[in-house]
Amino acid sequence: MHYDAAAEELRGKLIGLGEKSIRKSYYPELQRRMDELERLNAELEQRVADRTAQLAAANKELEAFCYSVSHDLRAPLRSIDGFSLAVLEDYGQLLDEEGLGYLNRVRLASQRMAELIDGLLNLSRLTRGDMIKQEVDFSAIAGIVAEELKHRFPDRTVMVIIKPDMKAYGDVGLLRTLLENLLGNAFKFTAKCANAVIEVGSTLDRESGQSVLYVRDNGAGFDMTYADKLFGAFQRLHTVHEFPGNGIGLATVQRIINRHGGKIWADGTVNQGATFFFSI
Ligand SMILES: Nc1ncnc2c1ncn2[C@@H]1O[C@H](COP(=O)(O)OP(=O)(O)O)[C@@H](O)[C@H]1O
Ligand SMILES: [Mg+2]
Repeated sequence: MHYDAAAEELRGKLIGLGEKSIRKSYYPELQRRMDELERLNAELEQRVADRTAQLAAANKELEAFCYSVSHDLRAPLRSIDGFSLAVLEDYGQLLDEEGLGYLNRVRLASQRMAELIDGLLNLSRLTRGDMIKQEVDFSAIAGIVAEELKHRFPDRTVMVIIKPDMKAYGDVGLLRTLLENLLGNAFKFTAKCANAVIEVGSTLDRESGQSVLYVRDNGAGFDMTYADKLFGAFQRLHTVHEFPGNGIGLATVQRIINRHGGKIWADGTVNQGATFFFSI
């Protein structure tokens, strides 16, 4: 209301004085302010550009560091694995059962470490590769990944329900990796479930009102107290004895979501299943 009244008053004055004379008397001041605004704007843009460049450089350095560390760790590991195998093969008969057991544990541990390093390398490659965003048939990719999993675990009876015609805007390869991890987890964590049901669908998020996708299963679930740990590299809420794995999957998924500018969160109940919601 105040604004309207002031505008009306100004309009009256303008008519009274004539636009030209007003422009003339205010022009130098107006010009000065506009120049100042332009300068501030340019300065701000430059600062944002500088910070973005710094951040990108730091990120790149960190990625390169992670890559070379994981890469360099593999060589000594291959030696440990290779030479312990040589001892087993060439001197195995000289060792008693306990000695053989220790050596086998050395080999198992080095193989597990190799798996972890591979996981790290994959994770770091994921952030380095190029990304091509386009509209993709999310339902179709989910279908392909689910078929592959059924094929890989022929002994399992899993009902997979995929909502048809779900679309997403993103990189096909990365979205496939995302689904391989989420559906792979859903398969794994329903392994002890008599009637495993996995669902890939979409729903409206109550908080944002946005459409979000989800992967749901009725498997082992998890304790929500530790939900914030799920997406960290090497973080696992189940032991290797309960369910095998290296804890890289959800960290990978989180990176893919980050690269798409989306969000991911999880909901779970012990022994009642888990749902992973995400926007992309
Ligand atoms: N569908 C799921 N149901 C229950 N727990 C899950 C599920 N998906 C992931 N988790 C929990 O999150 C942890 C991290 O998952 P992930 O990074 O994929 O590692 P991994 O599959 O190697 O265990 C898992 O170890 C498990 O504790
Ligand atoms: Mg996994």
